[in-house]
Amino acid sequence: MIIKPFKLERYYTIHEFTAKYLLCSSDCEAMTIGDLLDLEEGAADRFNNHWLGYTESKGSPSLRKDIASTYTSLSAEEILVCAGAQEPIFLFSQAVLEAGDEIIVQFPCYQSVESVPESMGCKVLKWTAQHQDNKFVFDLDELAKLINSRTKVIYLNSPNNPTGYHFSKEEQLAIVELARKYNCIIFSDEVYAGLEQGSEYVIPAFADIYEYGISLNVMSKAYGLAGLRIGWLATKQSEILEKVAMLKEYTSICSSAPSEFLAGVALRNRKKILERNLEIVRTNLKLLDTFFTKYSSLFSWHQPVAGPVGFVKMNFEYDDLQFAEKVVQEKNVLLLPGDIFDYRGYFRLGFGRKNMPEALAHFEEFVIENLVK
Ligand SMILES: Cc1ncc(COP(=O)(O)O)c(C=O)c1O
Repeated sequence: MIIKPFKLERYYTIHEFTAKYLLCSSDCEAMTIGDLLDLEEGAADRFNNHWLGYTESKGSPSLRKDIASTYTSLSAEEILVCAGAQEPIFLFSQAVLEAGDEIIVQFPCYQSVESVPESMGCKVLKWTAQHQDNKFVFDLDELAKLINSRTKVIYLNSPNNPTGYHFSKEEQLAIVELARKYNCIIFSDEVYAGLEQGSEYVIPAFADIYEYGISLNVMSKAYGLAGLRIGWLATKQSEILEKVAMLKEYTSICSSAPSEFLAGVALRNRKKILERNLEIVRTNLKLLDTFFTKYSSLFSWHQPVAGPVGFVKMNFEYDDLQFAEKVVQEKNVLLLPGDIFDYRGYFRLGFGRKNMPEALAHFEEFVIENLVK
């Protein structure tokens, strides 16, 4: 298999554990195992007695039941537990696609949804975000032009990484209608769902509203529990789920038993965890709004209605990669340059971490020293 290096993961491999301030993280604040176990009475004792053997390849029945309860119309049988969100993206593409297939990818994107199909010889069409009036827009007419009877899969991600764009209910229904016309599969990456700024922004999982919808989710992002490496696919398409499950027997085989247990505790207490993370996001967004109002001549910023990431336009002459490099060298603050997404002139910010105010203060020092005239 010849596949392009994963730009974002390469970048993080170099910087994530050396830069002091991560101003671009897409995961929310994590917590300790002890703090997580404290959320449920008796969980610590049960965890200590938890069996460390192999687990069921599809995921433990109890965890699949907890996951299914986060959807409105799916049962435990319609869930496949995987290693993070990355493994199911890879395995789904391997299971469903073959050389010559045509797919559509909402772009910019988390690279694996583009690079894995491309490496298999698929034709990848991009549904690209436009930046208009200081906001990102995904134009449905553009999607309608890309979709046709050859389209096998549409890869979506809402709330979107990196733009922060989130579909409205109306847009979601319009996308489903378009897909239904051609019987296309929708692979919907929903790893940032649960962090909406108000109930009016909550949209259903695609797997709940579309017969060919496959929803991807994970403990890493909205829940902030990336170290668990627990993710899953949810769909009514049992044949597809079975094909992915067969491939999983060649990769991770089954999930880690302690992680499955802990993911179950987190999901049963998801309201508390999501509220805590949303509170961090809200506090950080206020600071970001103040910052970008102050430096509006340098940066274009539009506050996302959901999720923990946003994409900032640089309104000055600077290569985004070199800019991020200079910021990390001088101030130990990590930004994610647009180059990583093949979308130049921007950088991604993450605002789900508690120390974001500190990171922003150091970034402001850089701005004052280098950009303010
Ligand atoms: C949109 C999106 N999907 C999937 C993933 C992969 O998630 P995980 O690291 O939990 O496998 C990421 C990670 O950044 C992401 O941003």
